[in-house]
Amino acid sequence: MPSESYQNLTDAEVSALIKAIRATPAGGSATPARTVGPLGRIGVVNGAVKFAPEVIEEYAAAQAADFGPKFAEGRHIAVTVCSGCHGPTLSGKEPEPGTVAPDLSVTGSYDLPTFTRLMRTGLPPDGRQLKMMTGVSQKAFRHFDDAEIAALHAYLVERAQKAR
Ligand code: HEC
Repeated sequence: MPSESYQNLTDAEVSALIKAIRATPAGGSATPARTVGPLGRIGVVNGAVKFAPEVIEEYAAAQAADFGPKFAEGRHIAVTVCSGCHGPTLSGKEPEPGTVAPDLSVTGSYDLPTFTRLMRTGLPPDGRQLKMMTGVSQKAFRHFDDAEIAALHAYLVERAQKAR
């Protein structure tokens, strides 16, 4: 549960979420209890496994670049939705061992149509299937509307240009 990212949701967004969840008929199976195996226990002891409160604090302390009101909506979407895998400042992270989510300055090489295609289908300009990004786009990001994608693209391109 990437609460480190969702802590950026506004009160209005949380209210809307609660409303949508309450309107959804109850169903499905109960979440199984979480068990920690021997490797997990070693990870907890040596600090390799971090618990949510610690990660939430780390994210709160490391803010993504802010370019003012013109780019505020795109920044909000990026820190709320993309930072879970691309890191609190969007400068890249390894969301699971062996899988690297790159610095989002990579978006500087995407124009709006190719970025829209990535968000809607998960396919980058050369059409290759990406390990994690393709699935997450097809399940989640395809629900962004055009205005949200344009705002996100404008912020990430601005961030890429300022980093040069
Ligand atoms: C569930 C984890 C996850 C989330 C959430 C996520 N990404 Fe990614 N993203 C990745 C990974 C991992 C890669 C590297 C390619 C791969 O292995 O899928 C990647 C690659 C990319 C790339 C580079 C694609 C290329 O040309 O190679 C872009 C651009 C990108 N992500 C944008 C975004 C944006 C924008 C968001 C938020 C809307 C986002 N990602 C959210 C995991 C994620």
